[in-house]
Amino acid sequence: MSNLKELGLMQGPLLIYGGPYSNYAATKAIRSISERLDIPSTHVICTGDLVAYCAEPEQTVDLIRNWGCHVVMGNCEESLAVNAEDCGCGFDENSSCSLLSAEWYRYSRSHTSESHKRWMAVLPRQISFEHSGKRFLVVHGSTNSINEFVFHSSDHEYKNLQLRQNAVDVIIGGHCGIPFGQQLEQGAWLNAGVIGMPANDGTQTGWYMLISPAQGEIKISWHRLEYDFENTVKAMEELELCRPYSQCLSNGLWPSIDILPEEEADQTGQRLHPEPIMIR
Ligand SMILES: [Fe+2]
Repeated sequence: MSNLKELGLMQGPLLIYGGPYSNYAATKAIRSISERLDIPSTHVICTGDLVAYCAEPEQTVDLIRNWGCHVVMGNCEESLAVNAEDCGCGFDENSSCSLLSAEWYRYSRSHTSESHKRWMAVLPRQISFEHSGKRFLVVHGSTNSINEFVFHSSDHEYKNLQLRQNAVDVIIGGHCGIPFGQQLEQGAWLNAGVIGMPANDGTQTGWYMLISPAQGEIKISWHRLEYDFENTVKAMEELELCRPYSQCLSNGLWPSIDILPEEEADQTGQRLHPEPIMIR
């Protein structure tokens, strides 16, 4: 995987978020959070998938482009940029996720402007930076594949290998939709979670992650994003778009858990409490 954007030496707090998923209300909310925290757009990174399940792709991308935060290309951007036939999520054929994606992807493809698609085509596939003496690498799926699902329960040795092969201390991924962080032998693997859909924990909120310097160490913390989800549901219902996903916005449960490994599937409906971690 190439197309790397190097941000160089970063200082101060960073806000990381993923998966806006055409959820305009959630995207407005995360921008408000960054302003409240006084974190400039130069210190905000989105891990991709701007356009997916919800009803307002054009408005969501407008907002993110006007905001000017950094964006890593997600599989949705990769697919839309070339008007591909499907979202490129990597769902198994005939799985529930694959069948449901046909509807939202078709809508997204026809309601995203050519200007936004051209912008998506040139997004970086990786973003790197240094903070407090640690090397960070931000990707969408994994360092090997834009649509690889990497969860907390995914193989530790595989994560260690990617940290070692890329000579970084921390990898931040997106794509899988559930926030987590873990320290491994070779470094740390983090996922900010997503703002545009709940995390399958039975609550309506999205998630974002803060990277905060703390006396020579780095504190990583996860936070719930409260937003006006009823507006997002209403926009979908007016179009009769993807009812299983508009229901998910209200009940906090994914319409299908086909993609989840056993550990994450067992946590369905259980409220998440990701604890902060310190990187030394
Ligand atoms: Fe994705």
